[in-house]
Amino acid sequence: MKIFIDTANLDEIREAAAMGILDGVTTNPSLVSKEGHKDFRSMLEKICAMVDGDISAEVVSTNCDDMLKEGRELAKIHKNIVVKVPLIKEGLKAVKVFSEENIRTNVTLCFSASQAVLAAKAGAYIISPFVGRLDDISQNGMELIGQIVQIYGNYNYQTQVLVASVRHPIHFVESCLLGAEITTMPFKVIEQLAKHPLTDIGLEKFLSDWDKLQKN
Ligand code: E4P
Repeated sequence: MKIFIDTANLDEIREAAAMGILDGVTTNPSLVSKEGHKDFRSMLEKICAMVDGDISAEVVSTNCDDMLKEGRELAKIHKNIVVKVPLIKEGLKAVKVFSEENIRTNVTLCFSASQAVLAAKAGAYIISPFVGRLDDISQNGMELIGQIVQIYGNYNYQTQVLVASVRHPIHFVESCLLGAEITTMPFKVIEQLAKHPLTDIGLEKFLSDWDKLQKN
């Protein structure tokens, strides 16, 4: 299971990388806007210098030709850049051309198994189904992950399943059980993965017993 962080906050990326568990980074226009990175290129260069893994950078055009122009420029920034393309008809056309040019794509905003099949057929390197946003509208996001993993296995599609819009550790554990290749999550969820109350209680007890020994 590869762990990606879903953020454009450089401090969070640095901290997660220092934990030794980080395999890549996903960003999107909302996350970049939240951090106020007006210079998108320089932000991506900084992230690529911090993490040696796939770094997703999203196009903001909605027609194929403009997506291709944007994506080709993004791909030139660093060998680890993966061009993120929305799952719309024009996006699929762009994914086909990118894959012929050996530019890797992450097809984002996937909410159904049929969309995921089309992305794989078009040549996507990664598919990003959004589980949290489905849960938000009373559909089970993890069921979609199970369907996509099964379908990709049935046809031996090479596209990697990246579980996105992750809100809590159970999304992560279920993704591992289902065999998805990647999970991306906010820094807060990465911290939650490491936490256990019995670890904290146990450590407190070890340290207070140690202190008692020093005082005697
Ligand atoms: C994925 O790459 C997206 O950036 C992300 O996971 C969206 O998550 P959200 O639904 O919490 O905004």
